[in-house]
This record gives sequence, structure tokens and C-alpha cells, in this order.
Amino acid sequence: MRRRLVALGLGVVAACGADHAPGALDAGPVGASIAVVDGGSTVVVVDPDQGSVSFLDAASLAVKATVSVGGEPHALLAMASGAILVANYRGGEVVAVDAATHAVTARKSVCAGPYGLAASPDGSWVAVSCEWDGRVMKLDAATLAPGALASGLRRPRAVAVVGSDVWVADYVGGLVHDVHADGSVATTSLVPTSASYRPALTHMSANLTSAVSTAFGALRFAHVLENNTGDTTEAIAADYGSVTDTNPKINPAVTAMGGLEPRIYAKFDGGARVYSGPVALAAFGSQYLLVAHVSTANVAVLDTHSTDPGARSVGTYQVGAGPSGIAVDEERQVAFVDNALDQSVSRIDLSQTFGADAPVFKPAQTLVRSLPSPYSAQALAGRRFFFDATNPHVTPAGVVACASCHPSGNDDGLVWFENTPNVPFRHRRTPHLANAKTATAPFHWDGQFTAMDALVESTMTNIMGGDGLLVDTTVVQPFIDEIVQAPVLPPEDPGAVARGQALFTSAQVGCSTCHSGSYLTDDMMHVVLSPESLDPADAITQTNTPGLHGAFLFGPYFHDGRAATLNDVLADPIMGHTKGLSAGQLDDLIAYVRSL
Ligand code: HEC
Ligand code: HEC
Repeated sequence: MRRRLVALGLGVVAACGADHAPGALDAGPVGASIAVVDGGSTVVVVDPDQGSVSFLDAASLAVKATVSVGGEPHALLAMASGAILVANYRGGEVVAVDAATHAVTARKSVCAGPYGLAASPDGSWVAVSCEWDGRVMKLDAATLAPGALASGLRRPRAVAVVGSDVWVADYVGGLVHDVHADGSVATTSLVPTSASYRPALTHMSANLTSAVSTAFGALRFAHVLENNTGDTTEAIAADYGSVTDTNPKINPAVTAMGGLEPRIYAKFDGGARVYSGPVALAAFGSQYLLVAHVSTANVAVLDTHSTDPGARSVGTYQVGAGPSGIAVDEERQVAFVDNALDQSVSRIDLSQTFGADAPVFKPAQTLVRSLPSPYSAQALAGRRFFFDATNPHVTPAGVVACASCHPSGNDDGLVWFENTPNVPFRHRRTPHLANAKTATAPFHWDGQFTAMDALVESTMTNIMGGDGLLVDTTVVQPFIDEIVQAPVLPPEDPGAVARGQALFTSAQVGCSTCHSGSYLTDDMMHVVLSPESLDPADAITQTNTPGLHGAFLFGPYFHDGRAATLNDVLADPIMGHTKGLSAGQLDDLIAYVRSL
């Protein structure tokens, strides 16, 4: 596989050199969690908690049928043939459902963690992004027979097909890859090379790229730009939930390929343009983009013709909890929003007058699907709290939710420079919370918190700028215990896994003296840093043993992210016990850790 890093705007999509370029890209449809089918009479939406898809009447939003597909689906794609393809994130499959009969007509095992779906312009094949095994697959649209197009990507999600190329964005790390038909890959970073109105953005991390649009002659990606390293010179607030001079540390953005500045559009001034957590995109009319925000429960209308950063957002729709997908019916001038956290769909009326002074629009209709939840009421309340950036007691400006750094309770792939009035300077890798179950207390790398309530209280008041008043902190642990799950990678070589497990538990190598029990942690503190690796300003001297479920996906590793890969973990000076092992034994050990 050929990989090269190209500067933003060099040698990318020919048809989209300018934001206003007329003409459409030769692109196929892009999947989302919701779609309009049957000529506008039916809406189909995923039910990730139940492992099903629901067909709704577009006029009443009443459920017509619910079809079990399995495996936490997050994306579906309506094909011209009448088939609806569904990606089962946790089941590793792509499932075809007939839109007319609601019958499952085919299912194929495709890869680990299939997330995004996109069809080729002629509809003959479908691209699938596979977050957990880092591959991009190409499926025959008729038989679903899979073949690998590219591999080695870092948690790919948003995907589109333009001509014969597959464009795919890594969920973490801010890279976009143009995968050519021959499997060669050209990679671009979403970190801007210039941002005249806010130069600090060029020093930030582009991250959590969640959605792509191919409308209006350009490829545009929805993501965030985050000041996680503290190395910008602009005046910023001391914590993550306040804003100084409208310079938040976490910025929603939409970036077009082709050398344009990222489109920053949120304003954290308590007005109508407070947006956090951009996760879905859809286009309508001649120039408008809808962006759904999972943490502020709203949808922004962006004018792609606007050149004024302060006036890009020309409308806001308030919708249900956790909007995660949008489907537009151009003909009827409506859009349907999938509010994943309360399992409702909102129909919004697009025939509004947009502009800088537009009020917040309410949905025309919202209906909750009454599906039995596999989770307790406590856990569901914890999930809503976790995603919510609108409670000023948690975070005053609406910039940041727990989910901003732990999306869905997972991790953001970042090492954060933390330094607030009550948090002394430290660099800490965000952990995935699948290993933060009740049984794995204490929490934080330095083992500071013996109970989750205390951690939540401290995070709200010391990191997120809130006062924590009237907040029920007890709902977070049930959310993590019941809902947050580690990613899983099916073992490629069971023999290597078995040999690796034997080494892991052997007296000679002794990993299991610390990584023990069902979460692979002894919940104890260990002096793990060799003296030469100590950063004098960074106070940590011991860390709590981390659990290892899903560890294959969590690089960079260790509390400070100093090991990029599992190979680097085993080569780290603290891993004294691995010194005598052969290269083959190290590979076996890694195969075992990757299987956990
Ligand atoms: C600005 C990014 C950010 C935000 C916002 C954030 N976290 Fe974290 N979280 C981190 C980082 C970084 C760590 C590691 C900190 C450490 O260990 O010192 C962490 C650690 C944790 C842990 C410990 C996991 C373990 O296994 O020890 C839990 C639990 C957690 N966060 C929950 C939350 C909750 C709940 C919220 C919202 C109230 C939240 N986080 C908000 C970045 C964030
Ligand atoms: C003395 C206790 C101890 C032993 C023995 C030990 N570990 Fe660890 N392990 C730790 C601690 C503590 C950390 C966190 C270190 C840090 O963050 O600086 C860690 C971190 C890791 C990580 C990174 C996890 C993450 O989320 O970043 C992996 C993977 C790992 N260990 C695997 C192993 C393997 C494989 C072995 C056996 C070769 C092993 N460990 C032996 C205590 C131990």
C-alpha cells in the first residue's frame, strides 16, 4: 500500500477547488443512521440498543415494522434496488433488508467494527469502513461478497465514494484518506494549514471525524478541533467548559477538501448558536448543510456560501436527545432527525427563513419509539448525563460534555494537557471506560478516586467549569457498568493467542501478577516509570494497573501516551520481564493482548 501525506488542498478532489464550485461530485449515496425511502412515505432508522431497524410512516412517524438485524447498528444505506444495507458495528456483519417486505434477505461477515457505508455512483458496489480492524472493505452490492481495499487505518468511520475512489476519515487523529481503486492511499490532515481569523486552530488537533457530505461539489467532513496540548498562544479559559473571548478549547468544525479554511460556526455566548458534538451531516437546497450535535440536542443550518465565520450558522433546530443522523426529503422540504438517546425521530420543516437573527426552530413533530430497553433507567439516565453539554451546573458554556473526550464512553485517542486552577500540570491519555467498571476502582491513572461519584464531581468542578449543583452523580457508574463495552477483535491466529496467554500467565513473564482477574487488573498502584522517563513537571510516580479489555484499539498507550503501539509497550523500559523473549514470543504475547 502506497501512503503519502499531502498538505491539505494539494492534489485532492479536482472538482472542488473552491467552496462555491458549481457542479456535483460524481458520488454515490452516503449512509447514515436514518434514511427516507419509498418516495418519501417511509423513514427507516437504526435501533442500536435493540439491534434492530424500524420502519416509520413518514407522515405520522408511527412504527410500521421493526426488524431484528443484531449487533448494534449505527449506519444504514438505502440502495436503488430497494435493499437497505445495515452495518452491524458489534456483529461484524452487513445485513440486507428488503424495504418493501421488511425481510432480511442476506447477511455477510465483513470485518471487525463496520461503521460507515457508502455506495459507488453506479450502485454496483459499497464501501464499508471498519473501525476496529482498520480496514476499508469493498462489497459487491448484489452478493455482499467482501474484499479488502485498504488496511492499517486508525479507526476509520466516515466514508464516501467519489468516482472510483473511496474517501474515508479516521474517527480519531484527524486524517482523511483517499483510497484509489488500485488500493494506493493519499492521506490529508484535517488540521488547517491556515486559519486567518483564528490562527490558533492550526496548532490544534483535528479529531472525532464523524460524518461526510458530497453535496455542492465538495467533500466536507464534520469533526472537532481541540486544544489538547496547551501549546497555542491565544487567551483561553482555565478550564474546558468556559470560554474566553469566544475561544473554546473544543470547536465544532466542518472542513472541505481543497485548501479551504475549516468552517468554525459555533458561538458559546448563550445565544442560539451553541453547538457541541457534530456527528451527522446532510445537505439541502442550493447551499445549506445540516449538522446534528449529539451533546447540545440541536441541528445547525450552515450556509456554505457564507465567508463570514460569525454568520455561517443561519438557523438552529432544537430536537430530541442525542441527535445522531439526518435524512432530507428535498421534495417535501422536510428532514428527519434520529435522536438516538431517547429513541425518537423529529421531523423538521426546512421551509424557514434563515439568517443571522433566525430564532431557534422547534420540530414539527417528534415521536418516541416504544422499544423495550435492555438497560436500566439509571443507566439510561447516566448516558443522557454523559452526553449532555447543556446543563450549566455541569459545564457553563455548552462547550464540553463527558462524551466530548469519551465519545459514547469510549476514548478520543488523545493525550490531554490538563492544567486548571485545581488540577496541577499533567499529561494524561484519555482512557476508554470499558475498563472503568465498579469492580476496577480506584479510577484515574494515579488511582485518585475510589468511587465514581467523587470522580464525576471533581471532573465537573475542576475540569468542566461547572459547580456540580443539583447533579445526580450516581447514574454514571450504572451507565459504564451496563452500556459501555470494549471493542472486540476476532483472533486471527488462535494458536498464537493460546501461546501468548501461556506466556502472559507464566512465572517467567508474569504479566498476570498485575493484570489479573476478569478485567486484567489488580487495582493496585505500581512504580512503573524508569527515572529517566519522568517529566519533572508531571507529578506522577506510580500508576494504577489499567484493565486490558479492548486494549488493541487504545494506542497511544500508558498514562502519558508514550508508547504508540503494543510493540512499543513491550519494548518500553518498564517491561523488564519481556527482555528474554524471542521476536516470535513477543508476537504471541501481542496476539493474546489483542484478543482481550
Ligand atoms: C477534556 C477531556 C475530558 C472530559 C471532558 C472528561 N474526561 Fe474523563 N478522562 C479524561 C482523561 C484525560 C482521563 C485520565 C485522567 C487521569 O487519569 O488523570 C479521564 C479519566 C476518566 C475516568 C477514569 C477511567 C479509569 O479507568 O480510571 C473516568 C471514569 C472518566 N474519565 C469519566 C468521565 C466523566 C464521567 C466525565 C464527565 C463528567 C469525563 N470523564 C469528562 C478526559 C476527559
Ligand atoms: C508490576 C505490574 C505490571 C506488570 C508485571 C505488567 N504490567 Fe502492564 N501495566 C502496568 C501498569 C501500572 C501500567 C500503566 C503504566 C503507565 O501508564 O505508565 C501498565 C500498562 C500496560 C499496557 C498499556 C495499557 C493502556 O491502556 O495504555 C499494556 C498493553 C500492558 N500493560 C500489558 C502488559 C503485558 C503484556 C505484561 C507482561 C509482559 C505486563 N503488562 C506486565 C502494570 C504491570
